[in-house]
Amino acid sequence: MVKSLEKLQKEFQKVNPKSFSEWNNNKKTLPGGVIKGAYFSSPYPIYIQKAEGCKLLDIDGKEYTDFSNHHTAMILGHSHPAVIKAVNEAVGNGLALSAPSILEGQIANEFIQRFTSIEQVRYTNSGTESSITAGRMVRAITGKPKIAKFAGNYHGFNDSLEFNLSVTENTNSDSEYIKPSPAWDGMPEHGEKNIIILPMNDPETVEMIVRENKNELAAIFFDGKPGILDIPIEFTQFLRNLTSELDILFVMDEVISFRSSRTGYQGISKVIPDISIFGKIVGGGMPVGAIGGASKFMKILDNSGPATGLSQSGTFAGNHITLAAGLATMQNLTPEVYTHLDKLREKLHKGIVEIFDNANIPCKVVSKGSIVNTYLTNKPITNFEAVSSSNQELWERIMLSLLLKGIYARDGMGFVLSQPMQEKDIQNLLKNLNDAIDEN
Ligand SMILES: Cc1ncc(COP(=O)(O)O)c(C=O)c1O
Repeated sequence: MVKSLEKLQKEFQKVNPKSFSEWNNNKKTLPGGVIKGAYFSSPYPIYIQKAEGCKLLDIDGKEYTDFSNHHTAMILGHSHPAVIKAVNEAVGNGLALSAPSILEGQIANEFIQRFTSIEQVRYTNSGTESSITAGRMVRAITGKPKIAKFAGNYHGFNDSLEFNLSVTENTNSDSEYIKPSPAWDGMPEHGEKNIIILPMNDPETVEMIVRENKNELAAIFFDGKPGILDIPIEFTQFLRNLTSELDILFVMDEVISFRSSRTGYQGISKVIPDISIFGKIVGGGMPVGAIGGASKFMKILDNSGPATGLSQSGTFAGNHITLAAGLATMQNLTPEVYTHLDKLREKLHKGIVEIFDNANIPCKVVSKGSIVNTYLTNKPITNFEAVSSSNQELWERIMLSLLLKGIYARDGMGFVLSQPMQEKDIQNLLKNLNDAIDEN
């Protein structure tokens, strides 16, 4: 049996006094003491002092195996020698150069070599900035006002797309249409006029809504969520065919899914999007975002001649230190790394299924590339509704118990693997998982 939340929290407080004191002091100067997300399942966050390989060391002196991977961003692990060397060299040349560096073209080539869909690249500082830019691009290119996105999908902290992050809110009982619902207070009034919410993995309803709105619809934004949801690739192919037929742009959010294969989710689903947005791993641990696509779409960002009417900028976008870290990461993400991660993922997936089967706890595991997600439910995870049926209370207790055993998987994105991990790290996680559900 998994320990009670109360018991686990008491144990947590006992072994994390320095983190408690840090958090308690910071509550005066920082809203909530720290950024959102750091709390997941624990009463307060753990403060990390050092990250190396797949290990984290906290300020109370405890070591963890890092299955969070900085919100999925550190696929090569922490302090990878090639990345640190590239960053040190870049820092040696100054912190900001007042002008472009030759790294811009070099990393663009890494994208272009991998992705059939990409001929040109523009850098930003985050996945959010990329989705904001892509939103403006699709409206400017097509002259149409609306964007469709899927209920449950997140494309960054973006006023024009942050709608219906939860699938259970505001469904219409008398219509196939999902009522657009701004995710947060403070978003601009009437933003919902220009957004259409689609149901994930429901081709009939999607087709009906998209056909009805085709004249106003600039683009569909889509994240296939490999390793998070079990969406058949046929659904992605269907979206591509439908958007091509109706002259609607197809934007693939690869901010997380790029880590699922050398060619991201577009490689897995064999779909060529019009525009792709990136973040996370392409900065090698530095703040980053990128947009890529065919020149016929990307040229809207080219103001070197007559003004196109759309300008995108950012003081630190394309910073040479970020690009150095990103380039070293992309260059070291060899096919062998993906094979290694895939093998570990398979072992972890299989091991989790066995543990919950033996414990008679309903469980579905979804995995792809280097992400493994566990849902305590009998429902196949083919949409977000199935995710909401998972026993979240039990899962959070399991995660807190794992944290106490040195397994760091903190942001609700499942178990995220990185290159330095070896089979022993997977066996260790499985042993601790087994212990967590079988103790008092
Ligand atoms: C799918 C997806 N798109 C976009 C973003 C936004 O990226 P960023 O946090 O770099 O702004 C995220 C962040 O987690 C994401 O998961």
